[in-house]
Amino acid sequence: MSTQVKGIHHITLCPSSAQQDVDFYTQILGQRLVKQTVLMDGSIPIYHFYYGNADADVGSIATSFPYGRRPGRAGSGQISVTSYSIPCGTAPFWVEHFDRHRVEHGGMQQRFGSTFVRGRHPAGMFYEVVEADDARRPWTTREISADVATRGFFGAVMSIRDIDEQERFFVEAMGFRKVGVDGRYHRFEVGRGGAGATIELHHDPDLPPGSWVFASGTAHHIAFHVETDEELLSQKALYEELGYTDASEVKDRFYFHSMYVRSPGGILVECTANVPGGFYQDEAPEDLGTRLNLPPWYEDQRADIVAMLEPVIVPEENRARRAPAGVPRPVAAPASTITLSRTKADFVRHKR
Ligand SMILES: [Fe+2]
Repeated sequence: MSTQVKGIHHITLCPSSAQQDVDFYTQILGQRLVKQTVLMDGSIPIYHFYYGNADADVGSIATSFPYGRRPGRAGSGQISVTSYSIPCGTAPFWVEHFDRHRVEHGGMQQRFGSTFVRGRHPAGMFYEVVEADDARRPWTTREISADVATRGFFGAVMSIRDIDEQERFFVEAMGFRKVGVDGRYHRFEVGRGGAGATIELHHDPDLPPGSWVFASGTAHHIAFHVETDEELLSQKALYEELGYTDASEVKDRFYFHSMYVRSPGGILVECTANVPGGFYQDEAPEDLGTRLNLPPWYEDQRADIVAMLEPVIVPEENRARRAPAGVPRPVAAPASTITLSRTKADFVRHKR
């Protein structure tokens, strides 16, 4: 049995305030607000924001649960850095841009021969822009033009106390290959490799474990892309064959289907298969991110959900209703024939 993992699908983090997060992603990182929806687990309405590049490509999507009600603890066994690719030679722009917005950052640095700048979200999470070849189409803002903008994810860095078992998981269960070591960073690639298909383990033997719960200031999980629901089931079977027997059932996340497993170093790893239509199921390409979308099975609670959420200002780039220049790329996955797990929180009863 072999894995069908193609690359990163999305990375999910927990900021604190919703508006602060929208402002950081759209104004500082220059991302497109692709979707406003809600967390589908639990009994408290929490926003779920999706941010991505111009085409909302798989491998460009960061998602956020603003979880200011509970602070988290950063540490090992967590994703420590979310990385975006930028065109070669543009790191100086990002230093200036971070300075202009008073973003805490470490200046230009080098790792694996590439220049990067690491900056910090106001809620505490770290992000990098890494110079790399990447042909995906960027979203642009008033301050971030296409020649300097991020293209999508470069990858992610994960803080790990002991490399060996986490490496075995990514190699044997996820199909990654080790491509290099630079100091305490161990780099792996999957599929065609490069931007969107790279991860790094950062060896932190003395760093206490970080929190696993949804909590502000931490990353919650990373998701990897497979093509079909059948490949999700095959991935779950591979986990079980290898002895990672705590893989979840396949969950209906409306825009895609998801299956989760806790990896040996503590990182929660999701595998994700898109559904037909993807992000265009409930919004036209030019309208992405402009309103709160709920999965159909939550619509009867819309008024109560909205009343319990912090209002946010939709970014001006979204209000301009810019459609992608090319043809949008709805996902052409076949309809699912597998059994899906679906949650429906009763927010109204919780409020009473
Ligand atoms: Fe996820």
